[in-house]
Formats: sequence, structure tokens, C-alpha cells
Amino acid sequence: MTRPPASRAEAIDRDRADPLAAQHALFDLPEGLAYLVGHSLGPPPRTAGTRLRAAQEDWQTGLVRSWNSAGWIDLASRAGDQIAALIGAGPGEVIVADSVSVNLFKLAAAALPLARTYVLFVEEDEFPTDQYIAAGLGDLSGAEVRSLPPGGTFEALKAGGVYLKSAVNYRSSDVADMAAHEHEARRHGALILWDLSHATGVLDLKLTAAGALLAAGCTYKYLNGGPGAPAFAYAGPEISNRLRTPLPGWMGHAAPFAFDAAYVPRDGAARFASGTPPILSLAALSGALDALNGVPLGALQAKARGLGALAIARAQAMGLEILSPLEDARRGGHVSVRIAQGYPVVQALAARGVMADFRAPDTVRFGFSPLFLRHETVWDALDALADILASGSWDQPQFHARAKVT
Ligand SMILES: Cc1ncc(COP(=O)(O)O)c(C=O)c1O
Repeated sequence: MTRPPASRAEAIDRDRADPLAAQHALFDLPEGLAYLVGHSLGPPPRTAGTRLRAAQEDWQTGLVRSWNSAGWIDLASRAGDQIAALIGAGPGEVIVADSVSVNLFKLAAAALPLARTYVLFVEEDEFPTDQYIAAGLGDLSGAEVRSLPPGGTFEALKAGGVYLKSAVNYRSSDVADMAAHEHEARRHGALILWDLSHATGVLDLKLTAAGALLAAGCTYKYLNGGPGAPAFAYAGPEISNRLRTPLPGWMGHAAPFAFDAAYVPRDGAARFASGTPPILSLAALSGALDALNGVPLGALQAKARGLGALAIARAQAMGLEILSPLEDARRGGHVSVRIAQGYPVVQALAARGVMADFRAPDTVRFGFSPLFLRHETVWDALDALADILASGSWDQPQFHARAKVT
């Protein structure tokens, strides 16, 4: 673990040595903006716009022919293969479709009959959608749903069943030891469905090597796929052809244009496609994924953690309580701190050109997307935070007005 820069000059030196510095030029972020919410909505790389405009042109000129001529029909699989390379999986093991919520539902439903016991488990500090989906699927399937204490999955695996578990916790940024969990799961006939939303595009994930069999994740965070970009579903080859989706739509059929009355699933993860894919969103996503082509995942992870360590060191110097692991290896790409007046503080930061996010009741999250952030930017953002807290300038009426999205 490298020591975080101790001065602004050292932060600038770190940027000069940054192996990912060339990637910054792919983004057109406004000058002076510290965009520390890449873990919430990544900004558009130029490559996303290029592919989006090309898809618009195909729509305009090729019309319905573009399903074949522009390869739209295979775009969800091609984007899936690009994502597979980023999570340590193989071709055909990932499909882009629907949202994370829907993919969790489909994968968990498909996993239940294959686990030793018909029980769904989810930790009580998991992202709420994971909990709602588990409860909804429990109601529909008759599976028992058990809530676990934070970090309780590993111990519970003895009971078999299906577990919804984030690789990186959305609030704390805690990283789960995927290989250790999978090893234990296999011993007990349990199946883990990993939520990779906060891990993909920022950690050096190795799903195959860890023995992971099921996962879903979003593409609008560190993959920069765009607002509401479709999510992905992963099914390992060891298990994928035994999985039955509860939403067998025609796009998951082996031959959709045969219009057969009987449902025959596609091989691999593609069976989790349901309806017609959103081509414009997929085009933007594919372009965004191009920005990650050839980027070493180890460098991505090391830089994100280095930026996080810098923020932690400076936040500690301000006396703030850090809610994320201090040890780099146990932390994802974001860092959360407790600030009682977090909401107005985040608004005051935004007014100074520093975007962070607030998670009720008192968590302020800073995301360190390694493709476009500089150490210098993070240094200056923490200066702004120190100033806002010391001066009390956050305590103005306009910063207290709550918006719908925080
Ligand atoms: C960990 C996690 N899971 C799931 C979701 C929700 O995904 P979706 O809106 O695509 O269903 C989010 C959204 O931020 C998330 O952070």
C-alpha cells in the first residue's frame, strides 16, 4: 500500500506518474469540476457519444434492416462479452439486459431449485432493492426469506440456500472475499448471487478464478454507460445451462425468429435476455466500454484505492468519522464519512464545484472513479470540504432544500 500524498505538490507528482492519465482525455468534464460521483452516474466518455450517434444514424438510414446490417440483434451479447472481460469471466457468460433489480430476480429464481435448501438470504445492510427483490421472490416462490446481520453471509452459508450479496457494499465500501465465500458455499450446497454494481469497472474482479457462478451488476456507475443504462447478468458455464429463467421472453429463446410455440432457452447467460434490447442505450454503453478496452484492471483498482486513501487521510485530519475500511485491500472505489449535516454539506460542496452524494441519514459518499480523476482534484475537493465545515458555510437555507434525488 502506497502512502497517500501529504501535500498538493505530492498529489500533482502522483498524477504525473499515473499510468491511466491518458484516459482523462476521453472525458469532457467541465474544467474545475471535481466529479466524485462516478460510483453513482459515470460521465460520458467521448466513445459513448460516437456510438450513440452512429446508432441514431443506423436507425435513420437503415431502419428495421439495422437489426441485421448494424448487428443490433447481437449487441446485448457483444456488450456482455466486453463486460465479461472486465469481471474475469469468459465470452457468452454475460448478457446485458433489464435492470439490476430484474436480473437479481431472474437469477435468484433460477438458482433456488439448484440450491440444497429453498431459502433466500440477504444481509440487512444490502442495497434496498436486493432486499425488496428477495422478499418479493419469497412471496411468489414460497421460498423462506431470512435476513442476516451485516457481514453474516459467510457464517450462514452452512444452511444452503441462495444468497444475495454485494461484492462491494454500497454504503460502507466493504469488499467481500469472493473466493472464500464461494469455497464455503460449495461445501454446503449454497449458491451466491453477487451484486457487482459497485465493483465492476473499478476492482480487478476475477469471477471465474473465484468460482463465482451467478452475478448481476449495473453499467451506469464505473462503466459510464449512461443514465438508466441496461444492467448485466452473469451465469458461469458450470451452471448456466441448468438455470431456468422465470421470465422466458422471446429474446432468451434459442431461435426467436422461428416463432415456435415451445420455449427453448439459448445457451449460457443469453437465456436471461427477456424482451427487445434497448439499442440506443446499448450503443452508448458499448461505446463507453470501449474506453476501458486494454486498460489494466490492476492499475484501475490501485488508482481508485490510492485516491480513496488520500481522501481518508485528509478526512481523518479533519476529525471526521470514516465509515469505510481503512485498509486498501478491504475497500472498493468509494469512501463514506459520517457528517450529521451531510445533506446541506453536500449541497454546499456542489456550489463549490465538488459533486459528492448523500445517503440518509448521515452518510456522505465520495467516489473515486480512476479513469478521469486526478489526485490534485481530490486534494482540492477535500480542501473545499475542510473550508465548508470550518466556516459553517453549509448552514444556509438554499443548501437545506431537499431534492428528490440525493
Ligand atoms: C448495489 C446496488 N444494487 C442494485 C442497484 C439498483 O440497480 P437498478 O436500478 O438497475 O435495479 C443499485 C443502484 O445504485 C446498487 O447500488
